[in-house]
Amino acid sequence: MHILVTGGAGFIGSHTALALQAAGYTPLLLDDFSNSNEGVLKGLETILNEKVTCIQGNCGDLTLLRDVFKTYSIAGVIHFAAFKAVGESMEKPLQYYENNIGNLLALLRVMQEYGVHNLIFSSSCTVYGEPDSLPVTEETPVKPATSVYGNTKQVGEEILRDVARASGQLRVCALRYFNPVGAHPSGLIGELPLGVPNNLVPFITQTAAGLRPELVVFGDDYPTLDGSCVRDFIHVMDLAEAHVAALANLQKRSGYSFEVFNIGTGEGSSVLEMIALFEKVNGIKVPYRIGARRPGDVVAVYADARLAERELGWKARRSMEEALRDAWKWQLNLQSIA
Ligand code: UD1
Repeated sequence: MHILVTGGAGFIGSHTALALQAAGYTPLLLDDFSNSNEGVLKGLETILNEKVTCIQGNCGDLTLLRDVFKTYSIAGVIHFAAFKAVGESMEKPLQYYENNIGNLLALLRVMQEYGVHNLIFSSSCTVYGEPDSLPVTEETPVKPATSVYGNTKQVGEEILRDVARASGQLRVCALRYFNPVGAHPSGLIGELPLGVPNNLVPFITQTAAGLRPELVVFGDDYPTLDGSCVRDFIHVMDLAEAHVAALANLQKRSGYSFEVFNIGTGEGSSVLEMIALFEKVNGIKVPYRIGARRPGDVVAVYADARLAERELGWKARRSMEEALRDAWKWQLNLQSIA
């Protein structure tokens, strides 16, 4: 049974491909490599000890999509392919709407044409903005988006809700990810940001490796325990496994459905705690200094993830120590193959 994984060569997509395979599905990857690298396929094949099918192309390409749906028997789709840089989205709104919304529409159209009714959508905790209370549940109000990127996730969810209802058949599970970190424990695949990383953990590992002179902590005057921002960091393999649980849940449904789930650990960690834990677990110093706040950052957000536990039978089980050890292993491996 093929599961189409758009953006399958990306950070979360590649780890989800492994989780799918482990659960007995056959992942079929589609990726245009606009923010990923073909090297990830080698990593996947080494871990799995078998070939992985990856179609190179953009998931907004209707001709290509129709060809894929005609060629393979597809039981469901996990749609990761999207741009994700908050700052860049403000400079390139058209590209973000085209890629994140336009491609979703193309995918929905072709799924409908070929009678494929199961879809998992990558959403984000960014939909909660700066929440009024913590932890956030799925009932926590969605706040007006403060970035184009965030808006593509909110609008994406709304489109899916409407299309599922009108179709009478489409079953959608939108997973609101918190902050995925870490890598597969083999160190053979991981996060591969092009250029200067935006996200905290790749910046930590590159600084520890000496590739960047120092990490700047964006603000230590927030109203949190140590003054730095708080996030719900989750091991990417836990996040990957949430997709397998969501898929099983969709396959149990009949008729149409639209559900959202928080995918986090339920625990908040501060930026300074993450740096200290990374140093402790890996026995290496991370040179850092405190800098100005980054515009658009929320102070604190972490999940109430009990709905996913109740409904999907899924919960995060890996520790942050493991995640930071795995992230470092991946960084070291990257350097050895560079
Ligand atoms: C944000 C979005 C998330 C989105 C992701 C995409 C929110 C709450 N989260 O994650 O939905 O999917 O972008 O990239 O809107 N930090 C530093 N120094 C650095 C880098 C980061 O101090 O060099 C701090 C940030 O200020 C932040 C924390 O680390 O407090 C995490 O930052 P990051 O990894 O970029 O993730 P979010 O901004 O939480």
